[in-house]
Amino acid sequence: MRIGIFGLGTVGQGLVEIMRQKNCGIEIAAVVDRSFAKKAQVLQGIPASADKDLILKDKSIDTVVELMGGIDDALYVVRSAIEEKKNVVTANKALLAEHGYSLFHLAERTQGGQILYEAAVAGAIPIIRNIETIFRNEQITRLMGIINGTTNYILTRMRKDNMGYGDVLEAAQKQGLAEADPTLDVGGYDAQQKLGLLISLVTGKWVEAKNIPVRGITELSSQDVIWAERFQNRIRLVADYKQENGQHYMHVTPALVDERNVLYDIEYENNAILFQGEYSGEHLFMGKGAGKFPTAFSVYSDLLYLKSGSAAAARKFAHTPLSTNYLSIGDISDTSSAFYLRLRVKDQPGVLAAIAQILGNNALSIASVHQDHSAVQAGEADIVIHTHSAKRNSFYRALQEIKNLKNFVLHQIYLPVLT
Ligand SMILES: NC(=O)c1ccc[n+]([C@@H]2O[C@H](COP(=O)([O-])OP(=O)(O)OC[C@H]3O[C@@H](n4cnc5c(N)ncnc54)[C@H](OP(=O)(O)O)[C@@H]3O)[C@@H](O)[C@H]2O)c1
Repeated sequence: MRIGIFGLGTVGQGLVEIMRQKNCGIEIAAVVDRSFAKKAQVLQGIPASADKDLILKDKSIDTVVELMGGIDDALYVVRSAIEEKKNVVTANKALLAEHGYSLFHLAERTQGGQILYEAAVAGAIPIIRNIETIFRNEQITRLMGIINGTTNYILTRMRKDNMGYGDVLEAAQKQGLAEADPTLDVGGYDAQQKLGLLISLVTGKWVEAKNIPVRGITELSSQDVIWAERFQNRIRLVADYKQENGQHYMHVTPALVDERNVLYDIEYENNAILFQGEYSGEHLFMGKGAGKFPTAFSVYSDLLYLKSGSAAAARKFAHTPLSTNYLSIGDISDTSSAFYLRLRVKDQPGVLAAIAQILGNNALSIASVHQDHSAVQAGEADIVIHTHSAKRNSFYRALQEIKNLKNFVLHQIYLPVLT
């Protein structure tokens, strides 16, 4: 087996190092990287160029490893490789979320190579291969996970170190745990892309990731982290899917989890995916969601899988997202949840009564109410309400009505409670 690597950055370098140490019988025939000239120390004589044809036109290379990231060039490389009937291993969830449908379809149509992408979802956690093989005939009715390490790191440090969102983000950027432009992570879009890939695999129908409702963590403040702790809860950015009454519901959202939920203990940049199989019961996968060696190891594992010949055999049976069907996504607001609602209000008589009235009118029953003046200016108060489970629709309607109380309500934030 001879491979060509596109992109000798963090993951690419990790892969080269692992392969050198493991002596696995797979040859790195060439590397393409736009700044290959600066990477002679890593290359140690491996032929390299910025010209993609060094790999794409080499018929002796049977597998392309795409580790450049980005969309346009990566799409060209993966598409060309498949047309040349080469296998592709990629860690690029953004590429697959946007173009996976056409790329998997192309691979099927041209009877070209396989596309493997274990590293694209949850780094080192072997979730793709497990769903494709062991669980291929299992009905997965619920899946929830922490699949973005950056946001989990931020939320963990906000709580443990009593820091504000902005300060933790800056620290994460300095440590290389957050990108200079963190929007994909903190906006929830990275988790949205990964959830799309996971549920495509789970259902065998392609999920358009951009249609999955998403909320990030940018509106959260340390107040919410503190309030969560007071009730033995933690805030997690969760990717949540469930099958109910024949509908497929999914979203990415910050949520409260309590100590009975396994996601409660997943800290820092770790990832975890919990799912429920119809016959096999509950499963938890936990591990490193990113990083040089954890991610490179998943790429390496895909290469060994290809080399063993098992990938081709497994794909014949797996329900991969190759079909011509798109999954229809149910409207998440038709489902139910309990909620945490924090309102910054003017401290005046009648405010709480007005809010309670709105909740009652929308069939929302209150589990608890707390008021606190400690973190606010004089004349203001924070009211924190926990509701019992109710239709999300009703809650959103009530929230809109509460927002309209502009004379009283200065700011509001809500979180669903994950169960
Ligand atoms: N890092 C992680 O922990 C992690 C985890 C899971 C998945 N991934 C995925 O793995 C992929 C690689 O990530 P990474 O962290 O290794 O990125 P990276 O450190 O930025 O490395 C990318 C490498 O590719 C080169 N490159 C970028 N665009 C190119 C182009 N158009 N033509 C030629 N060379 C190009 C870059 O050159 P320059 O040095 O000039 O920029 C760099 O050497 C991404 O898809 C990412 O989403 C990463």
